Amino acid sequence: MQNYVTNTWYPLTWSRDIGRELSAHRIIEKDVVLFRSTEGTVIAMEDACPHRLLPLSMGKLKGDHVECGYHGVTFDCAGSCVRVPGQDMVPANARVQTYPTHENMGLVWIWMGDPELADPATVFDLEQYHDPSWTSVEGDALHIRANYLSLADNLCDPAHVSFVHQTTLGNAAGEDVPVQYAQEEGKMLTWRWVNDAPPIPLFAKFGNFKGNVDRWHYYHYYAPSIAIIDFGSADTGTGAPEGNRDDCIQIFACHFMTPVDQENSIDHWLHVKNFKADEETNLALSASFREAFAEDKAILEAIEINENKYRGRKKIKIAIDAAPRRMRKMVEQMSAEESLVEA
Ligand code: FES
Ligand SMILES: [Fe+2]
Repeated sequence: MQNYVTNTWYPLTWSRDIGRELSAHRIIEKDVVLFRSTEGTVIAMEDACPHRLLPLSMGKLKGDHVECGYHGVTFDCAGSCVRVPGQDMVPANARVQTYPTHENMGLVWIWMGDPELADPATVFDLEQYHDPSWTSVEGDALHIRANYLSLADNLCDPAHVSFVHQTTLGNAAGEDVPVQYAQEEGKMLTWRWVNDAPPIPLFAKFGNFKGNVDRWHYYHYYAPSIAIIDFGSADTGTGAPEGNRDDCIQIFACHFMTPVDQENSIDHWLHVKNFKADEETNLALSASFREAFAEDKAILEAIEINENKYRGRKKIKIAIDAAPRRMRKMVEQMSAEESLVEA
């Protein structure tokens, strides 16, 4: 088993997908069953009946009780056993583990670690998501057959867009612009500006630029599983690099990663932008992102296959690796510190 950070809020699934039926999920190599209670809160419990370990997601939701699909042993929202058919006595250890959840930004967040430490006030939030002058559009749950840290590498890496996303998010103008980075506690910021260059295809399509633009890319990574890509453009000469962004297009491409297991992750993506658009434009924008993230998926999955094929092969290091390398160290340290505290 990989060492995961557990005392953190992980994005698990879209709120829109959780209703009055049992749904099975997997995160940090653990199976959980989710449902929405009659009061509307999302309940999460271990997806294994303590009797014979049948996944509870194969059972029935009856009111606020989960009835196992094998012998009908029944649990309430707190995971306590409330019924064992055929007997009056409920075994003292008949309990299912439950996990704290919270909903924000259209997602269900789950706390897999010590429930005593789960504070909903610390669930990730992006101010602009709630700002009526910005527009948020939910995307997909993109399944990637790769470790979530490979996806995190990709999200601490503005350099790849020039080569991977030539029809959407990048163009050749950025190829040789060095990447800068800054590390803070639990956070890695990677960025670069590409100034006085043609707009990237996405902005050429949705912006109204007269000629060349100044373009920024700030990748905010919050360990272990959140990345917010702040990118935008303004007409060259309007002072965007100096801080004047009055007349710009700005988009936050949000990536909420679920580490499923060592070889699978889910990227829940959505975009938040500083301009209004009609439904058709929003759909077209989502289609561009979908195209770009499918390119990332193809690369990460191919790398995952080769990582297994060339196990132990020493890889070369280049300048753009500085941030991803530190990001991985940061996550490793966070999980090591947790183990130390537990010990
Ligand atoms: S396996 Fe769940 S009741 Fe028997
Ligand atoms: Fe990408």
